[in-house]
Amino acid sequence: MSARFSSEEFENLKRLLSVYEWGLAALMTKLNIINDDLRSYQENSSIDHIASRIKAPESIAQKLHSAGVEVTAENAKKHLRDIAGVRVITSFAKDISFLVELIRTMPDVNIIDEKDYINTPKQSGYRSYHMIVEVPVFFSGASENITVEIQLRTSAMNFWATLEHKARYKYREHIPTHLSDELAVIADKIADLDQRMYLIHEIINLINE
Ligand code: GTP
Ligand code: MG
Repeated sequence: MSARFSSEEFENLKRLLSVYEWGLAALMTKLNIINDDLRSYQENSSIDHIASRIKAPESIAQKLHSAGVEVTAENAKKHLRDIAGVRVITSFAKDISFLVELIRTMPDVNIIDEKDYINTPKQSGYRSYHMIVEVPVFFSGASENITVEIQLRTSAMNFWATLEHKARYKYREHIPTHLSDELAVIADKIADLDQRMYLIHEIINLINE
């Protein structure tokens, strides 16, 4: 079985990815509105920044191949939940639960699954809150639901995840134990720093009041 799209399937994929682009744009508009609104009345906005991406065809093909299914556009839609991805980066962990609540109440955003890797970090030390949501896309002659993975994390968690991801990539998933142990320790320290900085933030707020 090939780990690449055939030229015919690649055409199907291009069409499919357009639908994901549209769905992602619709969701981003909703999130950007929240971001703008929070900025206009909060002194310290909950959101630091929002980023989004569509998974590259090579990565889609690789993931399908690893899952042992044929590399087709149909299988991509059926098996992958992270073709469209959004990252919401906050200053503090407290902001995440607030934003999760907001996303849960968004019209036209269906929550499929949630994973709380903040209260239950991964063994690697990875922390983030994941939401898998479904967004309807209406276009000429058809309507389709697409799945988007939303990852919510603090700037510090994001810094860690980016570094750990680099290590994972460099060592092809087999990070040497001395490094993975060190990363796990740092992840705990980061969670502690996040908490301590939040307390300072709260004290400053109290003084301002
Ligand atoms: P995949 O890991 O994407 O195959 O999906 P899954 O169903 O196992 O979901 P999971 O929640 O484990 O991971 C989804 C995404 O979260 C990944 O694609 C990464 O972007 C991120 N992630 C999960 N675990 C880690 C981790 O240990 N380190 C880093 N850097 N990122 C992680
Ligand atoms: Mg995983």
